[in-house]
Amino acid sequence: MKRKILVTGGTGFIGSHTTVELIQAGYDVVIVDNLSNSSADVVDGIEKITGVRPAFEKVDCLDYSALEHVFQKYTDISGIIHFAASKAVGESVQKPLLYYRNNLNSLINLLQLMPEYHVKGIIFSSSCTVYGQPDPENLPVTEQAPIKKAESPYGNTKQICEEIITDDIKSGAPIHAILLRYFNPIGSHPSAIIGEMPNGVPANLIPYLTQTAMGIRKELSVFGNDYNTPDGSCIRDYIYIVDLAKAHVAAMAHILDDKMTTPVDVFNIGTGKGNSVLELIKTFEECTGVKLNYKIVGRRAGDIEQVWGNVDKANKELGWKAQHTLAEALSSAWKWQQELRKRGIM
Ligand code: WQD
Repeated sequence: MKRKILVTGGTGFIGSHTTVELIQAGYDVVIVDNLSNSSADVVDGIEKITGVRPAFEKVDCLDYSALEHVFQKYTDISGIIHFAASKAVGESVQKPLLYYRNNLNSLINLLQLMPEYHVKGIIFSSSCTVYGQPDPENLPVTEQAPIKKAESPYGNTKQICEEIITDDIKSGAPIHAILLRYFNPIGSHPSAIIGEMPNGVPANLIPYLTQTAMGIRKELSVFGNDYNTPDGSCIRDYIYIVDLAKAHVAAMAHILDDKMTTPVDVFNIGTGKGNSVLELIKTFEECTGVKLNYKIVGRRAGDIEQVWGNVDKANKELGWKAQHTLAEALSSAWKWQQELRKRGIM
């Protein structure tokens, strides 16, 4: 009997790539998504890649009764991977109440329903933003690093959600939880059937970079080259989206196969390496042969200088390690951008 996983936000960037890997690992998947930041066409893409069409329910996780109906309809859900959340740092500063309501209440609804419907575990989509700017001696950052005061309501919702899950389980909730702290997910599925589809002008580096390479944007602004880093630009841990998706499959097995040594655990999911913005541009140009038009401008408010992850714990305890290089991730992002042009989408 195949084990069934509920993936909230499953038509989104990380959710869709994770659904593909779950199906290919032998799970049944039910996607719940309100389509506020994605399209139902992604379900077709998942079917095209895997040959299996996941169940799809257009539901907002804020709607408790609609969400409960999903658990009543799919009675054998073993685990949940919770991606559904608002995730734009800048927007969260403008609309904090929307972020607190959406990101916190959606999680609370799921946690309330899990014991009632005997769901064993939940994987929460957290973020390296909880570390803020680690002290230089604490780089690469481990899971034991201090949680710093969030720089944005978005980052704060990630911290609070981690605490909500921990407090719920401490109170005796009969569930297990894994908090995955992602670094910077980039790239697209090698088939170029699914990929990152930002709404409007991309805030994140890679979609803006590939749209510039495609001529959709005039030039890429590099936000600062006066940081205390080797080439002056910010450093991040850029992880290929398929490697990130596979980390969720490894984490779900860790829960469902009773491998957890504690009811709540946390893992950094990154490559363990840091690359600067200027290094990333150079790598993109080398692996695609496309010259990128960019200029150095002032720093972006809220940016931290440098962060990359120590991922030994996930390597050892989940048996998971990122397999792809930065060049492979960037090549997949470019292939996706070319596919979007071929489809006449942008
Ligand atoms: C990366 C670097 C920018 C755009 C994001 C999310 C955060 C988390 C991690 C999930 C920075 C520089 C960017 C541009 C640039 N995701 N940049 N020009 O800010 O590290 O974090 O991913 O939880 O929630 O916000 O990612 O891609 O915006 O920026 O120079 O046009 O690229 O200054 O140094 P960030 P990003």
